[in-house]
Amino acid sequence: MKRYLSLARAALAALVVAMPVAAHAQDRITRLADVPEDFEFHPLPPGEGVDEVYYGCIACHSLRTVTNGGYSRHIWDELLDWMVEDQGMLEPEPEVREIMLDYLATYIGEDWEG
Ligand code: HEC
Repeated sequence: MKRYLSLARAALAALVVAMPVAAHAQDRITRLADVPEDFEFHPLPPGEGVDEVYYGCIACHSLRTVTNGGYSRHIWDELLDWMVEDQGMLEPEPEVREIMLDYLATYIGEDWEG
């Protein structure tokens, strides 16, 4: 019984630790209007890989072109190919391309409200 209690306590502690993380995930910005004006990569929403996308895409056009997005991973994947094949974007290293694609699909994906 004692052992069970301590396990339960450990589980509860894990839950308490995990909760703010979950709440944080829900706080993910999904609207352009909610991206803070002073965010260094504005208008892109914060997220892992934002710097790669910022510097990789701003060379040619406004990042609003990117935040118009709201595409599925598949569409972003095709858009990246199209940038490279027809628009003159330098082909990113495969790891960098993956980071960009993860960012775009996660933070400016289908639930992005624009
Ligand atoms: C070398 C220049 C260049 C770079 C770098 C570049 N783009 Fe583009 N992109 C273009 C051009 C040119 C267009 C406009 C093409 C057109 O509409 O005819 C465009 C258009 C777009 C569009 C609009 C597509 C549509 O539906 O009309 C999206 C989305 C886009 N780019 C995303 C990106 C992303 C994301 C990156 C960075 C990973 C990026 N681009 C980097 C040149 C570039």
